Amino acid sequence: MEWRALNEKRRSVNYFDPSVTITVSDLQKIYEAAKLAPSSFNLQPWKVVAVLSKEEKEKLRAVAMNQPKVTEASAVLVLFGNTRQFLESQDVFDDRVAKGYMKAEEVPRAVAMAERLYAGDRAVGYASRNVGLFAMNLMFAALDQGWDTHPMDGFDVEGVQKLFGLDPKYVPVMLLAIGKKRPDAALLPRGMRRSFDEVFILR
Ligand SMILES: Cc1cc2nc3c(=O)[nH]c(=O)nc-3n(C[C@H](O)[C@H](O)[C@H](O)COP(=O)(O)O)c2cc1C
Repeated sequence: MEWRALNEKRRSVNYFDPSVTITVSDLQKIYEAAKLAPSSFNLQPWKVVAVLSKEEKEKLRAVAMNQPKVTEASAVLVLFGNTRQFLESQDVFDDRVAKGYMKAEEVPRAVAMAERLYAGDRAVGYASRNVGLFAMNLMFAALDQGWDTHPMDGFDVEGVQKLFGLDPKYVPVMLLAIGKKRPDAALLPRGMRRSFDEVFILR
């Protein structure tokens, strides 16, 4: 679908048809389209836990403000950001050297620069920024392939961390419900958007 049409069609769908299942192959296709999202240094600091089973969705719902879409959606993607990805990406730097972005001897300097930019109290911001862009791409890729989505940050960070037990370098940034809108459910009209004049400061 053309981007403008996709953008107008995308809504945060609150009511999913719980009888619809999504396969790993569907998720792979969505990922293959979404992975072209930009990321700083192309480090792709994201990790996704795809929650597919009823039992796991119920556990997730309990730490996600009891939002019904968590159990009604076909899957909920828990989008984590890797706050240390810049120290764990030799593959990306090798690729950048092979493709002429930089020389091999420049890699340590690039890693040190990334560490200065993204470590310490900037790490969660770094991971969240990049995961946010990836999330947007996932939403458009899913819609393009016939799936509705709903992003959520209404969850208990510690609860989600505890539930999946990943290394604490992974911070949960967003939940993304994926499924098909219940045919009988009507969404409320699209919420207002701020005007150009309100949003932009021209200098
Ligand atoms: C980062 C983020 C977090 C959100 N968290 C929730 C949430 O926890 N629960 C919810 O019902 N909606 C959530 N929303 C959905 C927004 O309310 C919705 O995107 C907004 O009202 C605009 O509606 P639209 O997406 O249909 O255009 C979230 C959206 C974003 C982008």
